[in-house]
Amino acid sequence: MSSQTDPIGIFDSGIGGLTIAKSIVEAMPGEDIVYYGDTAHLPYGDKSPATITACSLRITDLLLQKNCKMIVIACNSASTAAFEAVRAHVGDRAIVMNVVDPLVASLAVHKEPHKMGLIGTRQTVRSMVYDQKIQALYPHITLVSHPTNLLASAIEEFGRNGVTDSLLSEYLSHPDLKDIQSLILACTHYPLLKDKINTFFDQKVCIIDPSDVVSASVHQTLQEHGLHNLGSMGTRHFHVSDYTDSFEKGARMFFGHTLHLEHLALE
Ligand code: DGL
Repeated sequence: MSSQTDPIGIFDSGIGGLTIAKSIVEAMPGEDIVYYGDTAHLPYGDKSPATITACSLRITDLLLQKNCKMIVIACNSASTAAFEAVRAHVGDRAIVMNVVDPLVASLAVHKEPHKMGLIGTRQTVRSMVYDQKIQALYPHITLVSHPTNLLASAIEEFGRNGVTDSLLSEYLSHPDLKDIQSLILACTHYPLLKDKINTFFDQKVCIIDPSDVVSASVHQTLQEHGLHNLGSMGTRHFHVSDYTDSFEKGARMFFGHTLHLEHLALE
């Protein structure tokens, strides 16, 4: 039985999920946070659904050992490959959330016929999870999904400056994305590129960033279950399966300078 003071567990393949963690911390400062970045196995976007699911289940066990009341899969690749398996594994021990459903729900504001682009990893695009959910709810939206696999690795390695204008332009000028009116950033690393993407599209495309809608949905779900911690200042623990200075440096760019990564191997 979970209680209000139990932590929220958040995981990603690396440090990208910190965009979601940051938004959760800002919206719910009283919550204790346990973050896990599976840096030893990233990128997830190139792996098979079976491998991503196996990693996600091991991380889930670790977060359950830390008594997490909620597990947020802050990674699109893991959300599209492993959500159902994680939810079945957890049962009623904790609430499990993914990043896809809150984002899809937030699209209800787009009422007119609309050409929408999506960029994400190969796994996210290949899974067709966004396509199926959006088509079922919003038949007037034409979704075009385009894999932009190298972006997440470049950000993990060098931060936002690792993504050169020519690499970004190579991806975003793909004919599939021509004439889009909005663009879903379906990878938790991409909010870091928002300014560059806006510049590429001359500010003419509405950029849909999942971080705030996911944290709003986490907030609402905790309230509905009577599990929201109203304390003033929660604790924060950031774990990675492989530690390097460059991960720590990158993580600070996502989260701020107070962050310290601790190495914690997966069992
Ligand atoms: N952060 C992951 C996502 O949202 C992608 C990075 C990776 O390929 O590991 O899909």
